Amino acid sequence: MTVTLRDATIEDAPGIAAVHVEGWQTTYRGLLPDSYLDSLTVPARAEFWTRPLTTRPTGWHMLVAEKDDAIVGFACGSAEWGEPRPGCDGHVNAIYVLSELRGRGIGTQLLAALFRKLAEDGRSSISLWVLEGNAASEAFYKARGAEELMRAEKPGPEKPVPEIALGWSKPAIERVIAMRAA
Ligand SMILES: CC(C)(COP(=O)(O)OP(=O)(O)OC[C@H]1O[C@@H](n2cnc3c(N)ncnc32)[C@H](O)[C@@H]1OP(=O)(O)O)[C@@H](O)C(=O)NCCC(=O)NCCS
Repeated sequence: MTVTLRDATIEDAPGIAAVHVEGWQTTYRGLLPDSYLDSLTVPARAEFWTRPLTTRPTGWHMLVAEKDDAIVGFACGSAEWGEPRPGCDGHVNAIYVLSELRGRGIGTQLLAALFRKLAEDGRSSISLWVLEGNAASEAFYKARGAEELMRAEKPGPEKPVPEIALGWSKPAIERVIAMRAA
């Protein structure tokens, strides 16, 4: 599917938030409490994203995929942060595609474009956390060269949740970048 990828601007915060909330509510039902998922709002998420979109931390990237002038997906990455650390120098913080447009190549394009940005920053390994039970996304990453690095209980909405850290080596990053044009 033809989409336009570009760096996000501050004006994109509501569009990113809408994809993010829809992504959580369609992906984590049964994995996270309904009460938490139902409480998520676009304005609150937009406020969350407004801060980094305004301050633009060094090495932080937010890419959006646009179709017909609407944001249909986004990918955010940076240096690795938080604890525990899987031990890579780059990190995917979030990647979401609107549910009705999944499986059409947008996520692969976003991942490849984000990896290009991180590689241009000199990152030579990239990690990402996926919730245990989000099997479709885990398979999506593994089919694109990711390997399991570690498992950990991470802070969740009501109690800690089990998550899996996946990671890409430098050659695997390069293979994902090459998928962009495919
Ligand atoms: C994971 C995600 C970003 C991938 O984006 P996408 O646009 O669906 O991916 P693509 O179309 O480029 O690639 C399709 C591949 O993803 C897989 N896939 C994963 N989740 C999918 C879904 N919900 N619907 C359709 N395909 C999905 C397909 O099986 C296909 O696998 P293959 O090419 O290895 O055979 C997207 O499906 C998504 O937003 N999922 C829900 C949110 C989520 O889990 N985000 C990641 C949190 S760690």
